[in-house]
Amino acid sequence: MRVAVFSTKPYDRRFLTEANRETGHDLVFLEPRLSPQTASLAGGCGAVCAFVNDDLGAPVLERLATNGIALIALRSAGFNHVDLPAARELGLSVTRVPGYSPYAVAEHCAGLVLSLNRRIHRAYNRVREHNFALNGLLGFDLHGRTVGVIGTGRIGVRFTRIMTGFGCRVLATDPYPSDDAVAAGASYVPLETLLAESDIVTLHCPLTPQTQHLIDERRIAQMRDGAMLINTSRGGLVDTAAVIRGLKSGKIGHLGLDVYEEEADIFFEDLSDQMLGDDVFSRLVTFPNVLITGHQAFFTEEALRNIATSTLASVTAYERDGSVARVPPDALVQAPTPA
Ligand code: NAI
Repeated sequence: MRVAVFSTKPYDRRFLTEANRETGHDLVFLEPRLSPQTASLAGGCGAVCAFVNDDLGAPVLERLATNGIALIALRSAGFNHVDLPAARELGLSVTRVPGYSPYAVAEHCAGLVLSLNRRIHRAYNRVREHNFALNGLLGFDLHGRTVGVIGTGRIGVRFTRIMTGFGCRVLATDPYPSDDAVAAGASYVPLETLLAESDIVTLHCPLTPQTQHLIDERRIAQMRDGAMLINTSRGGLVDTAAVIRGLKSGKIGHLGLDVYEEEADIFFEDLSDQMLGDDVFSRLVTFPNVLITGHQAFFTEEALRNIATSTLASVTAYERDGSVARVPPDALVQAPTPA
């Protein structure tokens, strides 16, 4: 099948080309992000392969359907950027790549925790300038601390295992508690208890209308003074303005982000020669106790190989008999209704 691959970076091209040796699709690599302006580039293709910051709202989906696209193959686990009811209405099938490497994200999350706690990002810069002073680098033992995991799916369970390995107590919350998480050492508690008792709070749930700004002013007030907040899931889970107020007051002691509410306009690009127009992001990076990475938690060899293989397998299955590993049916209920 001819597939328009939007938001292509050199690493996407490499791993998709390698995986395509087995599947033989006609891949059209396109650097622009998918948007109402670029949707026509998919003309002549049967499928579109999209990434996390591509626009898959109703207007774009309508254009794709008009252009003969039948399949949207997401090369991501998250699907919050797709208007699923509109896709269904237009007869577009949507596939994603759940669980391509939960280890990649869980391990990156642990990296953020360790770096923030021991100020490794600050120490790196100091030592380069021959500043060997330890003032301001004081951390704490993770052993014996309490970690709150919000969302115990694939990634949350792996992260739980890592933290119990450090000797942490893990509290968890999830509308669908899992035996795997309990076996990994988590104890389920209400969100209020998790926030009140955790030294580190980390988000591993999807972004849906129900979880938008899950961490807001009220939830931050319920956290322990000086707690660490980590978000490697989706930026919209956190009210960034409220978090900045929490950082200024000292309520939030450390913030680690791999995702950001307004990341679509800045992440994945080299903007080092430009003035950044996003004042909220600019404020965030001024805090010494904030560590931000640009949506790279998934970025391991294993993950990229799995993403490429399973994305193309979805295209093959669809081409063969129209079968799709659809996004979960409950997501259709949770997704916003098109206006
Ligand atoms: P998953 O679907 O296996 O697990 C998500 C869990 O969150 C489920 O158990 C679900 O019941 C739970 N959940 C839903 N609503 C909740 C709520 N209100 N409170 C607590 N839990 C809730 O997903 P997986 O693979 O673990 O991924 C989690 C998220 O990580 C994805 O939705 C995606 O947004 C993000 N992600 C980020 C990546 C990155 O590179 N930064 C890469 C891959 C995923």
